[in-house]
Amino acid sequence: EQIEKGGYEHFMLKEIFEQPKSVHDTMRGRLLVDEGVIKMAGIWDHIEKFKNANRIIIIACGTSWHAGLIGEYLIEEYARIPVEVEYASEFRYRNPIITDKDVVIAISQSGETADTMAALKLAKEKGAFIYGICNVVDSSIARITDAGSYTHAGPEIGVASTKAFTAQLTILTLIAFKLGKHNGNLGNADFMSLIAELEAIPKRIEDVLSSTHELVQNIAKDFVNATNFLYLGRGYNYPAALEGALKLKEISYIHAEGYPAAEMKHGPIALIDENMPIVIIAPKRGHYDKIVSNVQEIKARKGKVIAVVNKGDTQVSAMADYVIEIPETSECFSPIVASVPLQLLAYYIAVYRGANVDQPRNLAKSVTVE
Ligand code: G6P
Repeated sequence: EQIEKGGYEHFMLKEIFEQPKSVHDTMRGRLLVDEGVIKMAGIWDHIEKFKNANRIIIIACGTSWHAGLIGEYLIEEYARIPVEVEYASEFRYRNPIITDKDVVIAISQSGETADTMAALKLAKEKGAFIYGICNVVDSSIARITDAGSYTHAGPEIGVASTKAFTAQLTILTLIAFKLGKHNGNLGNADFMSLIAELEAIPKRIEDVLSSTHELVQNIAKDFVNATNFLYLGRGYNYPAALEGALKLKEISYIHAEGYPAAEMKHGPIALIDENMPIVIIAPKRGHYDKIVSNVQEIKARKGKVIAVVNKGDTQVSAMADYVIEIPETSECFSPIVASVPLQLLAYYIAVYRGANVDQPRNLAKSVTVE
């Protein structure tokens, strides 16, 4: 096992550090920047289904559901196709309206999650075209879908999903750009600049890993005894906030909630005092001014702010108690880059609390029962 961990103390840390490679591997052979194309056989062979779709319904559980939410932002922004994202467990039991004009995308690292599988079967029975985004090759979900794209993240052992999540985001980005280019909603110049930026994302992740690793480790030390955490973000980074909170609760057992930053005033603000740590994702591109006022409101109530900002940020940084810098990207890529320090933060807080990071209590890597 020590050998499998490749010198890292836990699989989770190894998998966090593998992300430059796993994201790169997920794009390899698909993203051809010089030729200006995205090659995805699963999409291309069924392009009429996507083109004529009334809507896309994404179903998933856990971390994969968070990826799905970001997929909604991506596909609606770039391909202008309506997207709904549902928890598989809710979808399957609520008699959903599904027609043969719907495309249903299931996202699942393991490809074995019982609820996701059952929801897919239901969609298939009702005539929808079903597409899979799985990590495990030849898994049950991969086998029953009409088509799909594998994330090539490699085996993920840590129960808390890290590299599978960023690989899922990579696939969803490719799908959104491909569909948008095809249906004319994403113009050629924008397409070209976005794919060039996407190609450089593994390098951005590498930079973030090396520039934030030690810093985040030190920040984590100050929160070992925290009992609650709030995670806030807007737009693409709202699901990133949900995922950051999920990581922390899964492995450190600290109660954590993710919220859209603007919803803070509808509830969570009542919780803020000097004992409440608040992670706020505030990249420049993405409603920055609105986030600045959220931070002001938090500081007025003495909340402890851990801000994830772009390099060179001044406004939020001046108010924050802790500052984690990530490189500036187009907004659609920021959840990939911002997730990395949040994974590290959850990891180190859990390690300092003496928790079993790779196998947290009560959780399973793959939930094959209801
Ligand atoms: C379990 C795992 C999570 C995962 C979820 C969905 O709860 O602990 O990490 O996100 O299942 O799993 P899937 O394999 O379908 O992505």
